[in-house]
Amino acid sequence: MTFPIYLIGYMGAGKTTAGKLLADKLGWHFVDLDNAFHEIHGLSPADYIREYGIEAFRRKEKYVLEDLAELPIEKVIYATGGGYPCWEDNMECLKELGTSIYLRWKPEHLAKRLMLTDLSERPVLQGKTEEELLACILPQLEAREPYYAQADIIIDVPLAVSGRDEAEETNDEQIAEHLCQLIKSKTK
Ligand code: S3P
Repeated sequence: MTFPIYLIGYMGAGKTTAGKLLADKLGWHFVDLDNAFHEIHGLSPADYIREYGIEAFRRKEKYVLEDLAELPIEKVIYATGGGYPCWEDNMECLKELGTSIYLRWKPEHLAKRLMLTDLSERPVLQGKTEEELLACILPQLEAREPYYAQADIIIDVPLAVSGRDEAEETNDEQIAEHLCQLIKSKTK
């Protein structure tokens, strides 16, 4: 397994929350690329998209990740933005730079998880009910799946080990622990 690790997946998959917990468990650095974008460009991705549009955001987002990859630190967990892998050759870049891990959820579970978050920070989904969210997630996830599916490792959540099939029953701590064991087993 090569480092750094890039967590990829749709909004609400747990890239940031589980990623942070994972980095703590491993004693590694954690970088949320949406936050890095905010620091570098002075606007959150949501505000940047509102101001300049999605295409301008994607161009900038690409370079934020590639510039950070120049840093000589390998033990980093990166939480990528949900749309990052699906733009131009970004997925190839990720695979060259390190190991990509896709947190794969069913759309119904993502809609449930997203309803528990602040949707104003997600311009594409803002102001939607759970049903509207699902209607929006379904086609977008289908379009993104071919990119996400190129990840080096795919983790299906809810985790089979939890023995149940409810989104709420695999929490971010369990995802982090699962990833931690996986990474440790592959780096012995
Ligand atoms: C986006 C996801 C967001 C953020 C931006 C666009 C997307 O990141 O990069 O709002 O198109 O899926 P998260 O997946 O971290 O929410």
